[in-house]
Amino acid sequence: MSDALLLAEGEAVARAIHVLAVVVWIGSVWLVTMVLLPAMRQKPPEQWTREFDAIEHRFAPQARVAVLLVLLSGLYMLYADNLWDRFEQGAFWWMHLMVGVWLLFAALLFVIEPLVFRHVVHRGAASSPRRTLALMLWLHRVMLGLALAAIFAVVAGSRGLF
Ligand code: HEM
Repeated sequence: MSDALLLAEGEAVARAIHVLAVVVWIGSVWLVTMVLLPAMRQKPPEQWTREFDAIEHRFAPQARVAVLLVLLSGLYMLYADNLWDRFEQGAFWWMHLMVGVWLLFAALLFVIEPLVFRHVVHRGAASSPRRTLALMLWLHRVMLGLALAAIFAVVAGSRGLF
């Protein structure tokens, strides 16, 4: 098999992994934002913080694997298709948006959540539970909105819509 064919096949596999990891990751963000957090508004603070912790405990490691797979498969596509120069062109703003969303989520999952958020949420839930839950819901909505916008923009942009 020629090197070019091998690279093309590798790219196709990387693209499939990229999309699958995005589905798992952003699908989970959708569930948390649109279903789980709104449902917690009906529960007493001690209950929702306990439940939120249990969900977060299971969700965070899975999300971290998905986020890493998105990065590795994305980098492989950049290499295989030699797309690096897109980052120097404004016309490919959707590539910047996609990578920007990744950076934001990675910072939240790997740094801000374990080091800052966990403590802030616990303290906030004890002193002003309603406001803390509203803040978490708002933050999740912004992140979900950005991720959905990035998915739309990259699928449409890579097919020449913009
Ligand atoms: C550092 C992180 C990332 C890198 C390096 C990266 C890289 C890439 C590359 C090179 C492509 C192919 C573009 C093309 O065919 O023109 C792509 C496609 C795509 N990316 Fe990313 N990406 C990253 C993060 C993300 C994130 C965070 C999302 C979701 C929010 C995402 C969703 C997608 C989707 C849906 C496609 C389109 C697949 C298709 O239509 O075939 N990517 N990405």
